[in-house]
Amino acid sequence: MFLTRAARCPPQLRASYVEISNYLRGRQIGRVSALQAHGSPVRQYHEARLFIPKPPEPLQFLEDFKKSIDFPRQTTDFKTFLAEAVPGQKIVIYGYLGKSRELSKKLTFVQLADPSMRHAVQLVSTAASKTLPALKAIRAHSPVVVHGTVQPKQAKDTVMAKNDPWEIYLEDIQLLNQFPLDIVMARGHVHPPKHRHLQLRTSPDLRFSLRFRAEVANACRFKLLGLRPDFIEIETPMLFKSTPEGAREFLVPTRKPGLAYALPQSPQQYKQILMASGFSRYFQFARCFRDEDLRADRQPEFTQLDLEMGFASGEDVMEIVEGMMRHLWARQMMDLLPEGPFRRMTYLEAMTRYGSDKPDIRYGMEISRVEHLLPVDLIQKITSLTDPIVEAFKVKGNDNDTEATSEFITRFLDSPEGAPFNENPDGGPGIFVFDVKKPLSGLQPLGWQAAEYFEDKLKLEHGDLIVLQARPQGPLTGGSTKLGDLRRALHFAAVTMGFKPEPHGFEFLWIVDFPLFTPSDSSEPGQGGLAGFSATHHPFTSPKTAKDVDWLLKDPSRCIADHYDLVVNGVELGGGSRRIHNAAVQELIFRDVLQMPDERVAEFDHLLEALRAGCPPHAGFALGFDRLVAVMLGKDSVRDVIAFPKVGKMGEDPMVGAPSPITEEAAKTYHMSFTDDLEIR
Ligand code: AMO
Repeated sequence: MFLTRAARCPPQLRASYVEISNYLRGRQIGRVSALQAHGSPVRQYHEARLFIPKPPEPLQFLEDFKKSIDFPRQTTDFKTFLAEAVPGQKIVIYGYLGKSRELSKKLTFVQLADPSMRHAVQLVSTAASKTLPALKAIRAHSPVVVHGTVQPKQAKDTVMAKNDPWEIYLEDIQLLNQFPLDIVMARGHVHPPKHRHLQLRTSPDLRFSLRFRAEVANACRFKLLGLRPDFIEIETPMLFKSTPEGAREFLVPTRKPGLAYALPQSPQQYKQILMASGFSRYFQFARCFRDEDLRADRQPEFTQLDLEMGFASGEDVMEIVEGMMRHLWARQMMDLLPEGPFRRMTYLEAMTRYGSDKPDIRYGMEISRVEHLLPVDLIQKITSLTDPIVEAFKVKGNDNDTEATSEFITRFLDSPEGAPFNENPDGGPGIFVFDVKKPLSGLQPLGWQAAEYFEDKLKLEHGDLIVLQARPQGPLTGGSTKLGDLRRALHFAAVTMGFKPEPHGFEFLWIVDFPLFTPSDSSEPGQGGLAGFSATHHPFTSPKTAKDVDWLLKDPSRCIADHYDLVVNGVELGGGSRRIHNAAVQELIFRDVLQMPDERVAEFDHLLEALRAGCPPHAGFALGFDRLVAVMLGKDSVRDVIAFPKVGKMGEDPMVGAPSPITEEAAKTYHMSFTDDLEIR
């Protein structure tokens, strides 16, 4: 394996490092830990050892630790306690101590939060019970074991007391680990991603999201396992091999020179092999890995609810997925989705009407083609393209207020979000405010024909906005057009700036009839073929009809795929397809259609071999599970529903410091060499 490397330490410097480190180890200083940075008892201990031959005695933290090792079983948990407490009952219960309220020298109240931090109960400590000194010595947020007696709250008639009638008279308290002084837990304090544990601990919302996520996973399992015929949950390997499936992979070097595993970008190939192995209904909550730039809806490591069905078509799969969505919405969202199959829209229709293959259809702003109506000089003003396509949409104004519309659009175009549209090399957007007080209602530059068309077709009202955008002629490819991106960005800005209300509800949509192949893009790995195009989704997707099979060798750009994406409110929740179950056809696609070189085709030998063994027709689907949970909870980013998400453009985990530099030792073990400017430890 070959890596780059810079600033390699000169050998003599490295040697002196080793010497210093050995010397320090000899003095038993050990490695510097995070705790030492905060003047911890460990650090004091080590400092003392440097100057004093014998350790100072007694070591308080060791004494405290000894006391915390042995702690009793709790006699009840919070939920049971809150539901079934009996006055006079003696209990032992765990929790985190809250802040105390010292009412007098003889009476203190303190909240005890339960270990899941969802409930709390009041503890009462009095001079008579002799618990005051012990309680005072324990800092808020410390985990404790409480021994006490249940008693009714004194302030019976307050609303609070009615909902929360019990308190615990404190008889003993055992500290399990003192909370440190240097961690700020004040309300509203923002903990950095490096301290994810504190973010999780202080955010009821984050904790709720993770609990909700687990419930959704259970509900999915319950549904799939209850179907007839039922599904079987099968784990597939994480250590896979590199294949040109479509996305960029992460490699895992091995000790065998020149050999590496690849982490799976999805369990696609294994699940198809399972279809050839006699498991005709499979599912799995699968971890997937893709070396892509991060976005709000993208993580390099994410979870799919992956499924596959043998002796089945895409229609069968879509029916199962719809049933699961209905089940989830009814069970987790208390919301019944409308009866009947989900709406379907072809890729071409979605791209033409919304400029996106995952449109949010709740807020209108439909796109129409208008270049045939526009004067040539206007087209020349908005683009330098010759013979362009020009498209337009309307943004509904606010209370017929032209000034508010102008202010909104100016703010947007001047913002960083507006910059990519102004800087579009095909020309920026042309923007007009419909103002009945102006000649031709402010649409004069469009010419009377277009002005009339817009007024009638788009049902323009005073204060509405018209947005025009040019693009080159040619078939629609990829996930969106520039105008589609602008539609999305403008809607988002309108909601964030309060210019428009947020749309409600969930609009599920199947996007179907994608092109089977897409022109190659140098930024995507694709399949590495010479055909100039790659599989739009993955190279295992079947052509939709017999006619599309015929196009394979005549004109692959005309092949429609039997692929379906599930979209809700502008989010691609999942995607799937009917697969090529015939080995010869799959090989033809690799070799003759995509024109992959022999060695790349050979990387799929395992799959071809499995298909050859009488593999039944099959189809499947993968639901982006992080995205599903984020959509259900109305979160903007999947990071809000993942316990330890990656952050930053490169996908770092700042808490653990991953990815971390490769050490000399590891480089040797894994046979890596460094060619230029990479610093290694
Ligand atoms: P696809 O690549 O469309 O299909 O992935 C399926 C779904 O997974 C989610 N997803 C992601 N979520 C978070 N971060 C990412 N980086 C990310 N990438 C994808 C999306 C997407 O719709 N093997 C096929 C499925 C099949 O054909 O059965 C596949 O992986 O919600």
